[in-house]
Amino acid sequence: MNILGISAGFHDAAATVINKHGEILFAGHSERYSKIKNDLDVHVDLISDLANVGHIDHIAYYETPWKKQLRQLYSGQGIEWNKLTTHQVLKKQLQGYFSNVPVSTHSHHLSHAAAGFQTSEFNKATVVVIDAIGEWDTISIWGAHYVDGRAQYHRLWGQKYPHSIGLFYTAMTQAVGLKPMEDEYILMGMAAYGSKQASTIMKMQLVDDEWEATFKENLHIGSSYEWGKHFDDMDIASSAQSLCENLIYNVMRRAKDFGWSRNLVYMGGVALNCLANRNLGDYFEKIWIMPNPGDAGSSLGAAALAYGGKIKFEHAFLGREISGNYPVNALLDSLLVDKIVGVASGRAEFGPRALGNRSLLADPRGPDIKDRVNAIKRRQEFRPFAPIILEEHVNDYFDMPNGFPTSMYMQAVGVCRYPDQFPAIVHKDGTSRVQTVAPDCGSGIRELLEKWYVLTGCPMLLNTSLNIKGEPIVNDRADADRFEQKYNVKVHS
Ligand SMILES: [Fe+2]
Repeated sequence: MNILGISAGFHDAAATVINKHGEILFAGHSERYSKIKNDLDVHVDLISDLANVGHIDHIAYYETPWKKQLRQLYSGQGIEWNKLTTHQVLKKQLQGYFSNVPVSTHSHHLSHAAAGFQTSEFNKATVVVIDAIGEWDTISIWGAHYVDGRAQYHRLWGQKYPHSIGLFYTAMTQAVGLKPMEDEYILMGMAAYGSKQASTIMKMQLVDDEWEATFKENLHIGSSYEWGKHFDDMDIASSAQSLCENLIYNVMRRAKDFGWSRNLVYMGGVALNCLANRNLGDYFEKIWIMPNPGDAGSSLGAAALAYGGKIKFEHAFLGREISGNYPVNALLDSLLVDKIVGVASGRAEFGPRALGNRSLLADPRGPDIKDRVNAIKRRQEFRPFAPIILEEHVNDYFDMPNGFPTSMYMQAVGVCRYPDQFPAIVHKDGTSRVQTVAPDCGSGIRELLEKWYVLTGCPMLLNTSLNIKGEPIVNDRADADRFEQKYNVKVHS
């Protein structure tokens, strides 16, 4: 029995297939096929890949359409009569494919929770979900455990629309001229360059009750931000990050106080804020953030709920395959000569971050590499790149935060011990978005790092996503060829 989980129709459409043993056969993002960033619709080529996985016996959808429509009506967005039922949504999204397959509908926040808990190593955990908005839920805390092998979720607390930490952060992203629901990670990067001097007035103007995470206005609809005109964008970013962290930590304190478990599963788009995540160890002992904690990951969550039991989650390389052995030696040759090289090999990453199969890699040593990679990536110069490092060496180079002895999916930032030697991978505040690579990481990037270490004595590379500016991460070899031609950088497969 194969279960297809779908999240689509709002942003970043995705699909996951799991089999009767709880193994993930496929998980991919629509944007990688359509080349439209955060594409909200399921692309026909993604449907083809799903059809090739095998027979689909059940479809699980990641939220309840009529509840979402009711909320949209309440918020003045109107109602879309052709999106009231899961059947209507799937008929459009799957374009007539899998039309006779039984369907189940699951709640938005429970799909987030399941994507985290059922892929974790834990048999019991406190689950916290913080996102912009689902149907009505914006924050939820769950006590999760297994009974007779089936996951059970007990709702312990929640907050509802329009009160939303995610919508607050998105509104601040928009306030500094960035694209809401897309550029929040840039706002996080800007935070290191400002001061928190706007946080007092920001809190006064916007926050109603910090403990309850309630706000004075509906930030989904927008705000005039008259109060913000005396501050520059970096100060707004720094203050928004600080206020956001306080709100998140209040939720974590509340979650801890329920006493359900010392294990934390943290999900929802806000869980991508790796800067805020550095202090989660103050509240919980063990932490799991699934590498795709946003809505795309809920395609896996919905499928997990329909399945019921623990999912065998081994790594995030679950999407479209570029066949062939990982080109370790070719990559090494290019790195030693050119210092920068692209790789497009194996299965695409499920999640927003390139983890080694669709990456632009570089020698992280020396003062000029950041400018050289930036000249290719053409992004804001203040943003650093991420280090990818052999797991057993991470403590030699980084002070990792409590709760994150490793960071296989860049879930939290560490502090670099030698920022002068590696300026390209260190942010202005001294932090780095570290990716640790274990022997069983599921990618040839491990062997590449091992050989790089033998040759150079350096166990780390710079790793950034392989994408043409404005486009999603490359999916197939044709995308890699376009990248090569556009930027004149070799991409090995
Ligand atoms: Fe969500």
